[in-house]
Amino acid sequence: MPFGLVSAWNKRRRSMSQDHSDPWIYKPAEFWQLEDLAPQPRKRRHASSVFTLKEMEEATCSFSDGNLLGKGGFGRVYRGTLKSGEVVAIKKMELPAIKAAEGEREFRVEVDILSRLDHPNLVSLIGYCADGKQRFLVYEYMHNGNLQDHLNGIGERRMDWPLRLKAALGAAKGLAYLHSSSCLGIPIVHRDFKSTNVLLDANFEAKISDFGLAKLMPEGQETHVTARVLGTFGYFDPEYTSTGKLTLQSDVYAFGVVLLELLTGRRAVDLNQGPNDQNLVLQVRHLLNDRKKLRKVIDPEMARNSYTIESIVMFANLASRCVRSESNERPSMVDCVREIQMIIYTNSKGLGMVMHSLRMV
Ligand SMILES: Nc1ncnc2c1ncn2[C@@H]1O[C@H](COP(=O)(O)OP(=O)(O)OP(=O)(O)O)[C@@H](O)[C@H]1O
Ligand SMILES: [Mg+2]
Repeated sequence: MPFGLVSAWNKRRRSMSQDHSDPWIYKPAEFWQLEDLAPQPRKRRHASSVFTLKEMEEATCSFSDGNLLGKGGFGRVYRGTLKSGEVVAIKKMELPAIKAAEGEREFRVEVDILSRLDHPNLVSLIGYCADGKQRFLVYEYMHNGNLQDHLNGIGERRMDWPLRLKAALGAAKGLAYLHSSSCLGIPIVHRDFKSTNVLLDANFEAKISDFGLAKLMPEGQETHVTARVLGTFGYFDPEYTSTGKLTLQSDVYAFGVVLLELLTGRRAVDLNQGPNDQNLVLQVRHLLNDRKKLRKVIDPEMARNSYTIESIVMFANLASRCVRSESNERPSMVDCVREIQMIIYTNSKGLGMVMHSLRMV
C-alpha cells in the first residue's frame, strides 16, 4: 500500500473512533490526504506521432467492418494494429461538408489538449493523421469499450457494484485532474462528459475520452459565457443551458448523471419513456434521499450480493448533490473522489472485504 494511503488510513481510523456521527458530516479532507489524488508520476510514453493515410489503412485492413468498434457523432472508430504491433483505436472523422469547420475545430482541440495531458484516467492519444481533408485520431485501445454498453447496452454481464464504484472513482480522478491546474497550469472543462466517453481497459479501469469540446479556463475566469451551448442531451448543466455560463461545475453535473446511470442501469435520456420520464435526473432526483424509495431505482440487473444499502445511500446522496440545479451547491470533483473512496470502503467493510477495498482506492 502506498505510504500516503497508510498514513491517511491511520488518521482516518483515529478520527472515526472519536466521532460516531453520520458520515455526511465528516470532512473527507481529514481522512484522505491530497497526495492520494495526485496522479502517480508517470513518464509520458512518447510524443504524439503523425501517421500517413496509408498507415491508417494498413492498420485497419482498409477500415474493414470486422474492425469497427463503434460509431459516434463525428465518425466511426476502428480497431487497428500499427506496424510496431501495438493495437490501437482509430477514429475516422466523417462529417458532412456543412459541419467540416466544426469537425476541424474539434480535431485540433483534441490533438492540442490531449497530446499535452498524461494521467492514468485519461485515454492516451498516440497520434493523428491529417491528409488532405481526411482526419484520424489514434488512441490507446480500450479492451472493454465504453461504460454505457456495460450498463444497458451490448455487454453480456452487467457490472457488479464494486466494478461500478471503481469506474466512478477512475472517472472522478480523471475529471479532478482536468479541473486542477496541475495538467496545463489552467483548469480544463471537459464539456462532453458522459457514459460513452468513459472507456474501460482490460481491468475495468476507467479513462475519459473525447476532448474535442474541452475548454481551458484561465486563472480568475471561473465562468465562460457562450452563445452556443455544446454537449450532449441528458448531461447538460441546467445553469449552462439557461444562461450560457460554463463552469467546472458543469462537468460535475454530467458526472452526477453518470453516477445515476451506474446506480440505476438506465440511460441518461430514454426516448422510449413518456415525455415526462425521458430524462433520468427528473425521473429519480426526488427518490435519491429517501432510503425506502431508493431501493426501487437500484439497477435490478446488479448482483444483490455485491452491494450494501449503506453504500448505495451514500452514493445516491452524492449523485443528488452533483445534479443540483445551482452550480455552486454541487461538490467539487476532489470532493467526489474522496467520497467515492469512502463509499468503496463502506461497501467493502459491509461485505467483509476491507483489505480489497484499500487496494482499490
Ligand atoms: N480508445 C478506444 N478504445 C476502444 N473503443 C473505443 C475507443 N474510442 C472509442 N471507442 C468505441 O467507439 C465508440 C464510438 O466513439 P465516439 O467517441 O466516436 O462516439 P460516442 O462517444 O459513442 O458518441 P458521440 O460522438 O455522440 O459523443 C465508443 O462508444 C466506444 O465504444
Ligand atoms: Mg466518445
